[in-house]
Amino acid sequence: MFHPLLTSLWLLSCAATHAATLYAPESPGVPVQQVHLGLGEDEDITVSWSTPVGIFASSCVQYAPFAATPLNARDREILSQDVYSFSLSSCGHSEMFVDGGTAKRAQVLHRTKLTNLQPGFSYAYQCGGPEGWSETFTFTARRNLEQLAHDALRLLVFGDMGLENAQAWPDIQADAGSSFYDAALSPGDFAYDFRDEDGRRGDEFMMSLQPLAATLPFVVSPGNHECHYNFSHYKKRFAMPNVQQTENLYFSFDMGPAHIISYNTERCDAEHEASRKGIPSACPLDAHLCSAAPTANEMTFPVEDLFFTYGVDLAVYGHIHDYEHFYPVYDRKVFGDGNRLRHVNPLATVHVTSGAPGNVEMVKGNLDPPRGPCNSSTPWCAFQSGYYPRNGQNADYSFSKVFVHNASHLHWVQWSSTLQQVVDEFWIEQHSHGGFREKLDRRKARRKLVERGLLDYTDL
Ligand SMILES: *[C@@H]1O[C@H](CO)[C@@H](O)[C@H](O)[C@H]1NC(C)=O
Ligand SMILES: *[C@@H]1O[C@H](CO)[C@@H](O)[C@H](O)[C@H]1NC(C)=O
Ligand SMILES: *[C@@H]1O[C@H](CO)[C@@H](O)[C@H](O)[C@H]1NC(C)=O
Repeated sequence: MFHPLLTSLWLLSCAATHAATLYAPESPGVPVQQVHLGLGEDEDITVSWSTPVGIFASSCVQYAPFAATPLNARDREILSQDVYSFSLSSCGHSEMFVDGGTAKRAQVLHRTKLTNLQPGFSYAYQCGGPEGWSETFTFTARRNLEQLAHDALRLLVFGDMGLENAQAWPDIQADAGSSFYDAALSPGDFAYDFRDEDGRRGDEFMMSLQPLAATLPFVVSPGNHECHYNFSHYKKRFAMPNVQQTENLYFSFDMGPAHIISYNTERCDAEHEASRKGIPSACPLDAHLCSAAPTANEMTFPVEDLFFTYGVDLAVYGHIHDYEHFYPVYDRKVFGDGNRLRHVNPLATVHVTSGAPGNVEMVKGNLDPPRGPCNSSTPWCAFQSGYYPRNGQNADYSFSKVFVHNASHLHWVQWSSTLQQVVDEFWIEQHSHGGFREKLDRRKARRKLVERGLLDYTDL
């Protein structure tokens, strides 16, 4: 089994320079707003949306299957125009949500779970209730292993997307419109920030996200930009597996051959900085930040030990506003043969930072961004594209497409919206899943036997 791991880390504060808004802003006439999909337990899908206070008591979804196959968003859109009667309905619950700012802006957030969906079927749906319904959206129910035996699990991945300066957003939308994706994964730092302007920025962000997030599950983990008011916006706006118990702060689920874990690296106090030190992805480019950490902290990244012990194949991060691809690394040691394009049976986790679709912190520099195989002195850095404003260097706006072909093959493709081309791609090929520590110990033991002449070299 693959164990891609989704998380967000590192806090780097940046001067915010507001660029032009790329999104269509708020549509105040529409009472059912910010429609987006999440994941329930097992194969369930959750639908979440917002209404103004005092208008809607209902939290219902009416829906119907209309095609037995996965379709891309554009095809579903066209086909769903024929759907006028919804054979199924499901009602959930709503909760008043009050932003923590001084204006105490309130809205009603609704959440409804759709169960017993036909795997791989495309559905049309509306949410609301007798008071009024949203426009019609479509989605494809989660595909099962059997269906995925003939096709790759297809994921869009990007962290760190703001409401403003989201330069890669048109490409992301176009891609989701023309290709089928099972889900979008976003390792935190949304809107910049949800709580700004008494939560209005969060509302506008969720409305802007609607064309994507109302049609495929938008799977999240929290970043430092979500920590205000004890993560209240993040906890209440999204609905991930076991949301009642863990408030989206950590959860895991299976999707095809992948087991995906989301967890929170953030604490909104001074201590959390230290708790993130030593995470490899933050170090190659900010070596001074890593070395500035007391050695003890730098070396104790307890989660990295868990990755190593249990054999997490891939860890995905946001926070840094670039794309960075790292060789399999554990405790600052690279495990692998140095092949950047294919990590074959790696003995440590491959780490990737994908935090560059665009936000207000990514102001324009005049110099070309770093782009290509890494030149940094840190040996685990494989490829870098872009950097956020540093030394006058420009950003490279990009996002990721990840294809889990089967239990042994994962293909990562990084699309640069700046260049309008693929900047990096690589494969992880893992033929025997399991803990890396155990595999290395076994290998060491076998080496010893060879040295003592008790085992043939070819048996290694
Ligand atoms: C913040 O949220 C966590 C998890 O929901 C909770 O355990 C904690 O008590 C909250 N802290 C405060 C100060 O409310
Ligand atoms: C490293 O240097 C080479 C040669 O100058 C260059 O082509 C490549 O883009 C550089 N890598 C980065 C990440 O800047
Ligand atoms: C897994 O997918 C890769 C890439 O498509 C393919 O080469 C390989 O044969 C597949 N393996 C199995 C066991 O199906």
